[in-house]
Amino acid sequence: MSGLCMVAAVSCGGGAADNNECVNTCDASSSKAVVENIMARRSIRKYKQQTVARDTMKIILECGINAPNGQNKQSWEVRVVDNPETMEFIKSAMSEGRDVNVGSCFRGAPVMTFIARDPSYDFSAYDCGLLAENMMLSATSLGVGSICLGSPIRFINDSPKKNDILSLLGFSEGYELCLCVGFGYPDEAPDAKPRDWSKVKFVD
Ligand SMILES: Cc1cc2nc3c(=O)[nH]c(=O)nc-3n(C[C@H](O)[C@H](O)[C@H](O)COP(=O)(O)O)c2cc1C
Repeated sequence: MSGLCMVAAVSCGGGAADNNECVNTCDASSSKAVVENIMARRSIRKYKQQTVARDTMKIILECGINAPNGQNKQSWEVRVVDNPETMEFIKSAMSEGRDVNVGSCFRGAPVMTFIARDPSYDFSAYDCGLLAENMMLSATSLGVGSICLGSPIRFINDSPKKNDILSLLGFSEGYELCLCVGFGYPDEAPDAKPRDWSKVKFVD
């Protein structure tokens, strides 16, 4: 089954044929479902211990790399860490030389994605942000919680072990770590934070 069919089969409740043909079984209610899904997503900062299976993560990642991106350069790289020991290594490396363990900035998410941008492309940060949002929204639709995280980037960049962490993640030459997104099964259901409509105006 192609990646596209795999995603369609999950999001539309079946209908993807295995003979290289995608059958779209989505009906008009799907458009409402997308809006509801967007409005249902919240940053999750408390997770159950259960990890997210790699097959589920692959759907989320497939949605991520299908995000719109400048000139289809796909100017991102993603590393997925779902091994608790690897995550522990990163947390303790980040905390070296500090009074506190800063690993809590990952908010206990059992699967962490590290996203790097290509600084030679001026729109790369937007590409990475859109990839992150696609991943978070698809996660919501699969019952997986998520959290977008900027603070680990600062801790890693300030760490004397920065190079160890980056060589473990193994991004291509020139790529710069810019964002983390954590995933896991939610152990909380936070309310939506207020949004400021005055930031948005129709211009006549
Ligand atoms: C670029 C970016 C960086 C963020 N960094 C952090 C972070 O370091 N720690 C954290 O707990 N939340 C972080 N967040 C989550 C925001 O706090 C959250 O999205 C915002 O408060 C709105 O809440 P909501 O996602 O539940 O709608 C970040 C979000 C974005 C988009």
